Amino acid sequence: MTPEALLREAVARHQAGDLEGAAARYERLLAVRPDDANALNLLGLVFRQRGDLPRALGLIRRAVALQPAAPVFLATLGGTLAEAGQLAAAVEALRAALAIRPNDPTSLRNLGQALCGLGRSGEALAPLRRAVALAPAAGEAHLALAHACREAGKTAAAAAAARAALLLPNLAPQLAEQARFLLAALGEGAAPDRAPATYVRDLFDQYAPRFERDLEDKLAYRTPAALADLLAEAGLAADGSRQVLDLGCGTGLSGRALAPFAHRLEGVDLSPRMLAEAARQGCYAALHEADLLAFLPRHPGQFDLIAAADVLNYLGELRPALAGMATALRPGGYLAFSVESGAGDTYALGPGLRYRHDLPALRALLAALDLRILAERSLVLRQELGQPVAGAAFVLRVA
Ligand SMILES: C[S@@+](CC[C@H](N)C(=O)[O-])C[C@H]1O[C@@H](n2cnc3c(N)ncnc32)[C@H](O)[C@@H]1O
Repeated sequence: MTPEALLREAVARHQAGDLEGAAARYERLLAVRPDDANALNLLGLVFRQRGDLPRALGLIRRAVALQPAAPVFLATLGGTLAEAGQLAAAVEALRAALAIRPNDPTSLRNLGQALCGLGRSGEALAPLRRAVALAPAAGEAHLALAHACREAGKTAAAAAAARAALLLPNLAPQLAEQARFLLAALGEGAAPDRAPATYVRDLFDQYAPRFERDLEDKLAYRTPAALADLLAEAGLAADGSRQVLDLGCGTGLSGRALAPFAHRLEGVDLSPRMLAEAARQGCYAALHEADLLAFLPRHPGQFDLIAAADVLNYLGELRPALAGMATALRPGGYLAFSVESGAGDTYALGPGLRYRHDLPALRALLAALDLRILAERSLVLRQELGQPVAGAAFVLRVA
């Protein structure tokens, strides 16, 4: 088979979703033509799709080095760097791609999202508006613009972009749910009883490579340590004796704080990329990709301690989650969690797209579920746009 025919076959496999078959053919082609920039770039894409970003970047960089003026390789490099959380380098590569091919809507959207990730939402608006103008039927672009406008404080423009997404005839149901969620956070329409699972998963998948750096350094996030202190205050010995479940474990910051209490520690999260980071911590005996609301009822009476650090703020109605935790605990088991606090309604969706809970209403719900408060503390959960986010931490015991 000629190298050209091999490349065609590889691309056909790739487009059909057969990543193994495509990779094998790209590799065969590269064995005879090691400097085939197309094959290097496409094999890089396969590794990106498999989640192996270091190898993807190595291959795509070789393609760029061979053909530095080819916009398609620069665009792939930029998108992959963004996925790997290397946002400044992503912006540089995407700008270089767009200098050669200015009307590529995917690169424009990737550039806008990378700028937002860097906290430069004002600069993101122009590329995102162009992405929408060039691909008006793409719901993702409208939503990316809506998020950028919200972050830039342009509430009316954010709502207009979310409404424009909802008007698209073929908008995927998941994107429609996300657009309605965003509109509710902007004050249009009732808040749903939880954040859409796809929104939470995508948000944290994107955030995973830079989550710990951002939270611990920039946002002064101390909730896991505060929960561990409160557990000790409530009389729990850090004696490594318990079956512990870390709900919404993320990258494992909370797992590190819970480990001293655990004989066996398990984690649950919606985001596969957060879980991949958590696996590197080495403190979890098992990690589960699941929605906590589905996971808890499937594990009755299994845990001695369940913790949820900075997780319940993605849920409005807390009864199903708290009842699920009570079910998954052994009799006499302990529960520890944090919430963002807000007065007024039982819960409210804040402009940061997280829920705040009214503490008197929460205490009443805990009492109704026979969850006895052992310790409670007000705390600053983290900083957001330079402002402290107020919250509370609880330790409870199931009857
Ligand atoms: C702000 S992070 C906190 C991570 C970790 N607990 C910590 O303290 O660093 C919130 C995590 O909760 C997860 N999460 C939110 N809602 C969830 C749900 N319904 N089921 C499972 N995981 C959820 C997110 O995917 C994310 O990883």
